[in-house]
Amino acid sequence: MSGLTVALAKGRLLDPSVGIFQALGYDLSEAASSRKLVIEDGTRRARFLFAKPMDVPIYVEYGAADVGIVGQDALYESGTNVYEPLVLNYGHCRLVVAGKAEYRDAEWKMLAGLRVATQYPRLAKQYFASRGLSAEIIQVYGSVELAPTVGLADLIVDVVDTGRTLKENGLIELAEILQSQAVLIVNRASHTLRAEAVRELMERVVNL
Ligand code: PRP
Repeated sequence: MSGLTVALAKGRLLDPSVGIFQALGYDLSEAASSRKLVIEDGTRRARFLFAKPMDVPIYVEYGAADVGIVGQDALYESGTNVYEPLVLNYGHCRLVVAGKAEYRDAEWKMLAGLRVATQYPRLAKQYFASRGLSAEIIQVYGSVELAPTVGLADLIVDVVDTGRTLKENGLIELAEILQSQAVLIVNRASHTLRAEAVRELMERVVNL
């Protein structure tokens, strides 16, 4: 993958993503110990960028990175125009609608004017609109489970992994919006102009 720039999502996907490139022989030893946002491989065969998950598709769409690894949740929320040629077998989670137990039995679907807190406003809007449900989407930037507890919102749309955060905050899952896992994404121009390097990278990842 000589000369490719790779954007990696920080957060839960970072360790397994760094692990992939270390297994391929790239020197990412600085990733764990420093706060650097760009790391050049020792032999300069590749450059790695570290960005917030929601920003990784943007770096790739605009060509600041040729390739990225990000969760499908952040990719679809970003609405970016990139290739998504390879699904990776980690980072599994689900985007769900959740709320207090009083909303069980689908009664929330009958209510008008629900307020929904989320870090996924685009996917949340799509979900509620496609079902003809009226909802006000309120964007927050983390700790989403707090919102119903203190009355900011009736419901949340957020990712669930183990379900522990929902449970410990007295919330239950009401509906699944999508299942997500890590994906490798490719800039559309790089896919053509750097086809050989991109293909080699994908082959090496698949054969790990
Ligand atoms: C994510 C998500 C949930 C939690 C779900 O938050 O937003 O809060 O993980 O995981 P669980 O089902 O295993 O409990 P994260 O820790 O990434 O931070 P955030 O609240 O800033 O999004």
